[in-house]
Amino acid sequence: MLSEHDTEFLARVSPGTPMGTALRRFWIPVLLSEELSVPDSEPVAVRILGEDLVAYKDTNGKVGLLDGYCAHRHAHLYWSRNEECGLRCTYHGWKYDTEGNCIDMPNEPAESNFKDKIKINSYPTREWGGLV
Ligand code: FES
Repeated sequence: MLSEHDTEFLARVSPGTPMGTALRRFWIPVLLSEELSVPDSEPVAVRILGEDLVAYKDTNGKVGLLDGYCAHRHAHLYWSRNEECGLRCTYHGWKYDTEGNCIDMPNEPAESNFKDKIKINSYPTREWGGLV
């Protein structure tokens, strides 16, 4: 029988845990492709390995799997709009590409580069065999 310590070591898979770090080195099916059937469709909330994420298919058909929460005020990106190659948070309009880069901040002056400093966590994705 495993000790309590060993059980905790093996069972915890959140980001930053030893098992979570190990499992994140492998490809893991997170969705059926049909759940993101067409570009610019509704984003899908995903909870996997103790982490809240959001998946979407952008205008070019590329699938993004991002941290579930906006970097600004932590609104859940499940409620965001999928438009013109990005996921736009409906709270204040920050927009993220499939790699988690903030690509638009509508309330910043045009000369501001603040958006270039903002990035949320993302995971690489592939579609294969009807799975994402
Ligand atoms: S919470 Fe997302 S833009 Fe403000």
